[in-house]
Amino acid sequence: MNLKQMVGIEAAKYVKDGMTVGLGTGSTAYFMVEEIGRRVKEENLNIVGVTTSKATEKQALSLGIPLKSIDEVDFVDLTIDGADEISEDYQGTKGGGAALLFEKIVATYSKEVIWIVDESKMVKHLGAFPLPVEVIPYGSDQLLRKFTAKELNPKIRLTEDGNPLLTDSKNYIIDLYLEDISAPQELAVWLDHQVGVVEHGLFLDMVTRVIIGTSTEGVKTIN
Ligand code: 5RP
Repeated sequence: MNLKQMVGIEAAKYVKDGMTVGLGTGSTAYFMVEEIGRRVKEENLNIVGVTTSKATEKQALSLGIPLKSIDEVDFVDLTIDGADEISEDYQGTKGGGAALLFEKIVATYSKEVIWIVDESKMVKHLGAFPLPVEVIPYGSDQLLRKFTAKELNPKIRLTEDGNPLLTDSKNYIIDLYLEDISAPQELAVWLDHQVGVVEHGLFLDMVTRVIIGTSTEGVKTIN
């Protein structure tokens, strides 16, 4: 079993009967959704899922997990999702899979948020992984110029055929190649104030538990 599968299965243990569960996106979250699907089928686990992307929605439906949208529930009991980087003070970046907008919305209305990662995602400071910013296509070149002027090293994320990648909400992703994010709160506030920015991948003070897959010590849980 690989580390992503180990943490996915471990996180699914926190899902209890009657819960509304936020289902994250990505190659690690994939294993958690598979395990929840298995429990729904084999253990008659009774939950409602709230998905964070079209890809996860498709997977959850194929597994027979009952779903509602975020607007059809009062709140989410628990969201389980992956992350691109987690710093020593448990701030995170997300959006490598371009699902950051729904991921942040679902996390915002969740009582508990678990991140599942392999040890490679645990870093001293955020920033080595490019920080995704979801933007409205109209005016995106202006934003690119603004980000360049602020020395944020922006690049529009492209598909294999060279066109701008479209998110589930038909927006673009601008990745910021920052190397080191020395002041995440400050950067988050600045990005929040830029017209045309829909959301960014800084997930600050959002996580309540981190489950890490390590090659030497197995699964470690930090509450
Ligand atoms: C998608 C995300 C993912 O959770 C993040 O990119 C981690 O993905 P993976 O588990 O595949 O490394 O934020 O938008």
